[in-house]
Amino acid sequence: MKKVFQLVHISDLHLGGGYFVPDWGGRVVEITNALTPDLLVITGDLTTEGHVHEYDQVVEYLKNFSVARRLIVPGNHDARNEGYMIFEELFGTRYPVFEDGKITVLGLDSSQPDIDDGHIGRSNYPMIAHRFQDRSGLKIVCLHHHLVPIPGTGRERHIPTDAGDVLKLLVELDVRIALSGHKHLPWVWHIENTWLITGGTATSRRLKGRSYPSFNLLTIGEREFELVEVNVATGKHIRKLVAPV
Ligand SMILES: [Fe+2]
Ligand SMILES: [Fe+2]
Repeated sequence: MKKVFQLVHISDLHLGGGYFVPDWGGRVVEITNALTPDLLVITGDLTTEGHVHEYDQVVEYLKNFSVARRLIVPGNHDARNEGYMIFEELFGTRYPVFEDGKITVLGLDSSQPDIDDGHIGRSNYPMIAHRFQDRSGLKIVCLHHHLVPIPGTGRERHIPTDAGDVLKLLVELDVRIALSGHKHLPWVWHIENTWLITGGTATSRRLKGRSYPSFNLLTIGEREFELVEVNVATGKHIRKLVAPV
């Protein structure tokens, strides 16, 4: 497959609070920098409680990545303790956009201050539609919360309260890929023509059972894209999916 675009998707770093594993953090940086992707996507939970000293650690950690273009959205942990305001100070917007003609990537803030449930909100639907309508090329959204329950993660919690409406909107807009995190366990669902790709935690020991830290590598070609899951602990690359763009 001839590579047109490549992005690395990491999630749930959880700096602060004693969950971040420096060795895993270093490996994520090392592997990502060696790949030289076009874009680094981070789908939230950079911190543990949204405190400023945790954000300071995030800023220091992100300096290690050589990827210049980044798209970052907050998670429920980042929105705690008015952390969403620090997020805006540091990263500018909670709704970032990346466009290069062949691909449109839109970040959505699905968090709410001091509430773990996800929520996009109907007031944001026109903005989402505006970003994707009349766009050719691949359309990708990035948000922290999963839009469909993830097996093996216990009683369902925190799914966006308006997940049904958001899913309908994404399908109608022909958004091909939704990247998310939150559950700390990788999974893929396919609904209509939309792939819902949830990443695991890349660097934290907040793991489910004996699962492993991981992140996603998305390689986009002219006609298809490939999803590879990278096991951070072993460095093993696992090909998960090849599908038409
Ligand atoms: Fe998390
Ligand atoms: Fe989360």
